[in-house]
Amino acid sequence: MNAAAACTNELMNKIREESAKESIPSVSPSTGRFLEMLASFSRAKNIIEVGCANGYATCYLINAAVKNGGRVTSFEKDRRRFEMAKANMAAFIENGRLNLVGVDALEATGEISGEVDFLFIDAMKRQYKPILEAFLPLLSKGAIVFSDDIYFQGVLEPEKTLDRHKSIVRGLREYLDYLKDLEAKGAVENFFYGYEDGMAVTRKL
Ligand SMILES: C[S@@+](CC[C@H](N)C(=O)[O-])C[C@H]1O[C@@H](n2cnc3c(N)ncnc32)[C@H](O)[C@@H]1O
Repeated sequence: MNAAAACTNELMNKIREESAKESIPSVSPSTGRFLEMLASFSRAKNIIEVGCANGYATCYLINAAVKNGGRVTSFEKDRRRFEMAKANMAAFIENGRLNLVGVDALEATGEISGEVDFLFIDAMKRQYKPILEAFLPLLSKGAIVFSDDIYFQGVLEPEKTLDRHKSIVRGLREYLDYLKDLEAKGAVENFFYGYEDGMAVTRKL
C-alpha cells in the first residue's frame, strides 16, 4: 500500500464489526473523529497509542499521521488482540506508518524514538497515572495527551460505584488528581469533557 494511503471506511467498519463481535470496547466513531481532528490540528508527527485492541481508534490516528506526514506507535499487551490488530493493520505496518508493539507500554517506552507529540491513553484505567508518569518526560513542549473514559462509571459519584468498579474508579480519581497537580505546578493545562464516558485533553507546557 502507498504510504500516503489512509484507513478506508471499509476497513474501519470491518474492525468495528469485529469489536462488537469480540466485545472489545473501542471508541465511538465520533470520539474517533475528534481524536483524528486533535491529532491532525496539532500537526503531531510522533503519535503514540496505549491500548490498541484490534486497531479501531488506531485507524483515526493513522489518518492524522498521513495528513501530518507522521507515524503511529501503538501498544497492545493482550496477545490475541495484538494478533487481530496485526492482521487488520498489516498494510500500515508494511508501509511503515504504524509500529505495532505487542507488550505492556510501561515496559517498552524504549521503543519510542524522538519526542512524542500526541499520546492517546485508552488502557487499563488503574494504569493511567503510571502511564503518563512514564511518558511525560518523552513529550515535546505543546504535546497533547488525550485520556479516554476519565469519568467511567462512578468517578464523579463515588458513593454510587459498584463494588466491581471500585479499583478502576480509584485509579481514575488518582489520575485526575495527578493531572490537576501537574496543572497547579505549571507543567500542563487540562481540559475535561463529559462527552460519553468523559475525556481529558492535556497540553504539556
Ligand atoms: C479500551 S481497549 C482499547 C480500544 C482501542 N483504543 C480502540 O478504541 O479501538 C484497551 C486495551 O488496552 C490494552 N492495554 C491495557 N493496558 C495496557 C498497557 N499498559 N500496555 C499496552 N496495552 C494495554 C488492553 O489489553 C485492551 O486491549
